[in-house]
Amino acid sequence: MSDILKADHVSYTYQGKYQKVHALRDVSCTFAPGRFYAVTGRSGSGKTTLLSLLAGLDRPTQGEIFYDGTPYAELDTAKLRREKLSIVFQNFQLFPLLTVEENITYPMELSRVKTAKARERAVELLEAVGLPKELRKKYPAMLSGGEQQRVAIARALASAPRIILADEPTGNLDFENGENIIRILKNLVEKENYCVILVTHDRGIAEQADVVYQVQDGQILSSPEYIMSAR
Ligand SMILES: Nc1ncnc2c1ncn2[C@@H]1O[C@H](COP(=O)(O)OP(=O)(O)OP(=O)(O)O)[C@@H](O)[C@H]1O
Ligand SMILES: [Mg+2]
Repeated sequence: MSDILKADHVSYTYQGKYQKVHALRDVSCTFAPGRFYAVTGRSGSGKTTLLSLLAGLDRPTQGEIFYDGTPYAELDTAKLRREKLSIVFQNFQLFPLLTVEENITYPMELSRVKTAKARERAVELLEAVGLPKELRKKYPAMLSGGEQQRVAIARALASAPRIILADEPTGNLDFENGENIIRILKNLVEKENYCVILVTHDRGIAEQADVVYQVQDGQILSSPEYIMSAR
């Protein structure tokens, strides 16, 4: 199976006011389509830093990230995020002044999809994440946390990406809602060949992944711990 994302000897240093923080040190890891990855580790170990480099939101201090074999230095990473790679955050980050429908159609508008088509797709996406289409006229503040996170996933899917990066997407949810989100993400991996990379503190969730990368003090611990999945 060929890798879709690769971090190759990546280091990242935050230049603080008084000192440098070596958030990542010589990290190498690979990610393939049709696989569900968990990134675990203590608070401050470097998980979010790794995810933001994989998302191309920041550049490594050393090393390089590759998408389908092309180094990010040679890519338009904003375009990559519009077309191939979506991010889901712990605190949902929906646009509060836009309706559910407008939140979901927003990425499609950026890609110049016609409004009627985008609205049609928004209804399909709501269905895909198990939400009734009646929710589309509501504003995020009128929804529960679990519902907001599903809308955030629907929005992430709007651009039909190949990769989803999720930073503690279940961190603000109760067990049942968290499991629902994981089920949706796993389904995307199994049925639609997505590559899902999920940062989580939750042991139970990490155990459901195909591959677990454990980060400690800015490094990935030895070889990845491959967890036998049921499939
Ligand atoms: N903007 C910043 N400036 C300086 N140092 C930072 C900055 N962001 C993060 N760090 C430091 O970099 C290290 C890695 O942080 P990171 O956010 O990647 O950790 P994390 O594993 O995601 O933690 P958490 O589980 O708490 O979200 C930590 O030591 C953190 O204090
Ligand atoms: Mg973090």
